[in-house]
Amino acid sequence: MYLIYKLIYIIECEYMRLDYPSRHTERIGAVSIHELQKIYELDSGEMPRTSAHNHEQSTRAYSYQELSSIFRELAIVIPLKNEKIGLLEGVLSGIPNECLIIIVSNSERAPVDRFSMEVEMIRQYSQFADKKIMVIHQKDNELAKIFKKVKYTSILDSKSHIRNGKAEGMVIGILLAKMQKKKYIGFIDSDNYFPGAVNEYVKIFAVGFKMATTPYSNVRVSWRSKPKIVNNKLQFPKWGRISEYSNKYLNALISNITGYESEIISTGNAGEHALSMTLAENLNYSSGYSVEPYEFINILEKFGGLLPTDSSNIIEKGIEIFQIESRNPHFHEEKGADHLTGMMQASLLAINNSKICNIELTKEIKNHLLMLQIKQNYKSPKINLQKRHHIMDPIKVISIEDFADLVIKNSKTFLKI
Ligand code: GDD
Repeated sequence: MYLIYKLIYIIECEYMRLDYPSRHTERIGAVSIHELQKIYELDSGEMPRTSAHNHEQSTRAYSYQELSSIFRELAIVIPLKNEKIGLLEGVLSGIPNECLIIIVSNSERAPVDRFSMEVEMIRQYSQFADKKIMVIHQKDNELAKIFKKVKYTSILDSKSHIRNGKAEGMVIGILLAKMQKKKYIGFIDSDNYFPGAVNEYVKIFAVGFKMATTPYSNVRVSWRSKPKIVNNKLQFPKWGRISEYSNKYLNALISNITGYESEIISTGNAGEHALSMTLAENLNYSSGYSVEPYEFINILEKFGGLLPTDSSNIIEKGIEIFQIESRNPHFHEEKGADHLTGMMQASLLAINNSKICNIELTKEIKNHLLMLQIKQNYKSPKINLQKRHHIMDPIKVISIEDFADLVIKNSKTFLKI
């Protein structure tokens, strides 16, 4: 009897309640960008519910069963470079059990072998939690040779080593997820302090994919706040350090395309975001930290009807971008002013260098970057506005069977824990 009650509870238990994506949508060619959606309840209880208010007209709740069906097809990729081991363990604890976890580490191997320490921690953690975890090191020499063999050289540097960068780690993660035939991939930074926030991000990814009406979808998290301590007081500003500006310029780009002023984009630099595999394998990736704003740019370049395209089958089905605001505050490691300047330059150049960026906007971005350099007392390396970002090819060019076979046989750091 208890089991039957438990089953009914599982079937009827509702989970996250949020806005429908249809309040306002900006359409550019085949791309639909939905306005920011708000979460009303992280757990909205059982259904059906009799209530004076008919919430179902304006909001929709997703049951655990619905989310769980997505979790089983979802790989969470965690890019990792020299973070505190305890932080990574917290992140692992926040990821729902059904998801496959893929850790792509670029942590140092010498003088201290931080990668081995990470693997040790994951092994120990796995004695207490039954999770499916894959690990690989970005600088695995055999992996670099495999990329050469499968002719995916855009991830390699001039010495045929895999380049540094978060985006490079993400691409490796996408390939491992594809090897496991996963339908969706989500990205979560390894330096998140709150496991509860990580748990919410993964549920947001699942809800987004559940809402999608096309196989080609992108789910992006907008943080409700990023807590900071200013003058000994805890403050909760909405915008992070870079997003305010990347959102501003991406919106200016959209306004120029549609002819109407737009504020639709609020997730220009969403580090926590997810892609359906069908979309992920068709995109180019811009190196390092420019990857998130470039995702918007590349989707518009390929499917926005603004440039010639060879993707008519995708265009026919359409692309949907969801932006969902998390309830938990986002709290992560702060890495200093130079790090932020580099990230700002990379993000703005990714917008500026696109063929779809209009001349007025290019001038504005150029002035912004020059001001940044003046403020920095010319400390940061001189910004070269002509410099093209290193762009990686879509991973669909790789035969995944060959890649999987080579990784399993040859990689020295690939582990399934
Ligand atoms: N595999 C791999 N390789 N991971 C890396 C590398 C690398 O070369 N460099 C950094 N990472 C990992 C970090 O360990 C962290 O988990 C994640 O990538 C993000 O890097 P951070 O250096 O912590 O970035 P951030 O916190 O300043 O910026 C984040 O938020 C921005 C929005 O505010 C990133 O997610 C940005 O991409 C995002 O735009």
